[in-house]
Amino acid sequence: MERYIMKGGIPLVGEVEISGAKNAALGILAASIMTDETVTIDNLPDVSDINVLLQAIEGIGAHVNRIDRHTVKINGSGIRTLSLDYEYIKKIRASYYLLGALLGKYKKAEVPLPGGCNIGTRPIDQHLKGFRALGADVRIEYGFISTEATHLHGTHLYFDVVSVGATINVMMAAAMAEGTTILENAAKEPHIVDLANFLNSMGANIKGAGTDVIRIRGVSKLHSTEYTVIPDQIEAGTFMFAAAATQGDVTVKNVIPKHLEALSSKLMEIGCQVEESDDAVRVYCKNKLHNTHIKTLPYPGFPTDMQPQISVTLALASGTSIVTESIFENRFRYVDELSRMGAKIKVEGNTAIITGVDKLSGAIVSSPDLRAGAALVIAGLAAEGITIVEDIVYIQRGYERFEEKLQNLGAEIEKVSTEKELYKFQLRETAV
Ligand code: EPZ
Repeated sequence: MERYIMKGGIPLVGEVEISGAKNAALGILAASIMTDETVTIDNLPDVSDINVLLQAIEGIGAHVNRIDRHTVKINGSGIRTLSLDYEYIKKIRASYYLLGALLGKYKKAEVPLPGGCNIGTRPIDQHLKGFRALGADVRIEYGFISTEATHLHGTHLYFDVVSVGATINVMMAAAMAEGTTILENAAKEPHIVDLANFLNSMGANIKGAGTDVIRIRGVSKLHSTEYTVIPDQIEAGTFMFAAAATQGDVTVKNVIPKHLEALSSKLMEIGCQVEESDDAVRVYCKNKLHNTHIKTLPYPGFPTDMQPQISVTLALASGTSIVTESIFENRFRYVDELSRMGAKIKVEGNTAIITGVDKLSGAIVSSPDLRAGAALVIAGLAAEGITIVEDIVYIQRGYERFEEKLQNLGAEIEKVSTEKELYKFQLRETAV
């Protein structure tokens, strides 16, 4: 089993290139099969979630030609089944984006029900509400979601909750419905805008993405396009808070600073310096950080995917901080692991009360999920001594070459898969 082993206490310094946005790329890859012509997508992050979705797309018969690690050509003309195998949805929930894409194009789709996951129950009622509002029949039986329609018609839908996934799935189906669809209380994340731009580059007619009202005029056909995925705001934020937690000086490059505003303002509030340029943000912190209060909210609020990372940073800040997780009901599972490193955190319901400590100490910890795993690596890089982070398969779902990018910032971290490599690292680090 692969693990990260690291020696903490070294400030991260330097520049890091941010990869394409995983959560934008997943919607875009699903939408790419909505035309029978060839679509070229670049700036894909080379992470396991993307690679699994490409396998799922190939599994239903589309032609996938991987030009290089970050570029793919997809042609959906050869799709021979509208039913997705369970193995894909088990590996990645976002395979359910194929529901909206296949329903939009073929007016029929069948995808296994996604389970819950480590951060909450994650219902999909809003997705199904949207498909039904477009005129599709939706059935849940034998562990599958089956949906079909003689034809899809425009609708005026109000989402009961702000949902990234439901906005993406229903937008895709509505893009090829007859007539106009208005989505109200839609999610506004940058990856929603990126998907809308991608679909429009294929001939769709979508306006208002990025606001809470999206207007979609359905079209009967979509055509080929060449598209570049936006940079990943959560990967960028993870490195920005790693700089803060290790008292370092890091510039994240190939970013859109506007997408990082909630993160930059919080970093300044807790005592960091933040400098923005066109496509880069520099974060440096030379003095002890102090406390703040956070409530995770849909974009443009503070993102839930950055909640573990800021909590780790606040564990080392002076004073007491309050972190409220308003999006998912089970996103503090990393707190027990962090407490084993000396953090003083008390979780009551969906709120964590964090009392800053002077230092964390290295320990063996396990990643409960993708973002919590990345946060535990930040904790290990800031702690005194050696930390081993296990179950890094979660982290590899969303962070490309994570340990390599951290090494380039001066971190003493390695990915090891044998006890021998582990001991070699420990011997080397204790020898110096
Ligand atoms: C997307 O998940 C992201 N995943 C998540 O990132 C991210 O945390 C989340 O959006 C919020 O930004 C991808 O994009 C692949 P939601 P999603 O639907 O779409 C409730 C990561 O780390 N809800 O916006 O599943 C839901 O329970 C991952 O990259 C319903 O009630 O999130 C939650 O409380 C983790 N009914 C809230 O809405 C529904 O039909 C927001 O969920 C759908 C959602």
